[in-house]
Amino acid sequence: MRIHIFESYEELSKKAAEIIKSQIVLKNDSVIGFATGSTPLGTYKELINMYKEGLDFSDITTFNLDEYYGLPASDVNSYRYFMYNNLFDHINVDRKKVHIPDGETNDVEKFCKDYEQSIQNAGGIDLQILGIGKNGHIGFNEPDDNMDVPTHLTGLTEDTINANSRFFDSIDQVPKQAITMGLGTIMKSKRILLLASGTDKAEIIERMLKQPVVTTNIPASFLFLHNNVDILVDEKAASELEK
Ligand code: F6R
Repeated sequence: MRIHIFESYEELSKKAAEIIKSQIVLKNDSVIGFATGSTPLGTYKELINMYKEGLDFSDITTFNLDEYYGLPASDVNSYRYFMYNNLFDHINVDRKKVHIPDGETNDVEKFCKDYEQSIQNAGGIDLQILGIGKNGHIGFNEPDDNMDVPTHLTGLTEDTINANSRFFDSIDQVPKQAITMGLGTIMKSKRILLLASGTDKAEIIERMLKQPVVTTNIPASFLFLHNNVDILVDEKAASELEK
């Protein structure tokens, strides 16, 4: 696990975008796993600039980590809406190669199995982008005694519902469930990039990184078992580490 500390969120975002660019330049048909949330927004802006400067996204295949369950795809808070609004509508990605969990499926079990199969059929994820929840979740793999390994339907913890309520008119509107890649799906990615920014993330970054221990209390700690992980943090998120 490589840990990189950046002076600012802007520097972090530039580096993350450069890593994604290098991946695409090396292999134009790369399979990229994308995350939503506030953290990767700067990275996505950089990728849009790179597209304007000539980076070609037309051969990549994408898989998103997660989607709220029960929220229409057209809802402004759906992760599908987020990805198109903040990235896919602004680059030349082939929409046929975009995969985002279907939050409206009636057959969750089949959907999850098919999602796993599609990732496998695409040759696996070359580079997976992750944010981290204040409770240590990655995707929507929340701290718990047991962790589901493949893509699955999950309940959201109160912490996550509270954190995500900032995007909704009221907390009651935040969906209580989501479809998420499992820890096993994430761990099969060939390379993983975890981004953390801001003082809000300082405590969990310190809890996770203070020693290499794996615990289901901090789902992100499973990344210690992966051999190709870069953790990019800005100084604010690293502030508890440096004490
Ligand atoms: C988003 C996702 C979540 C977020 C995490 C951090 O697709 O899977 O795990 O990465 O909740 O969110 P932000 O970046 O908004 O702090």
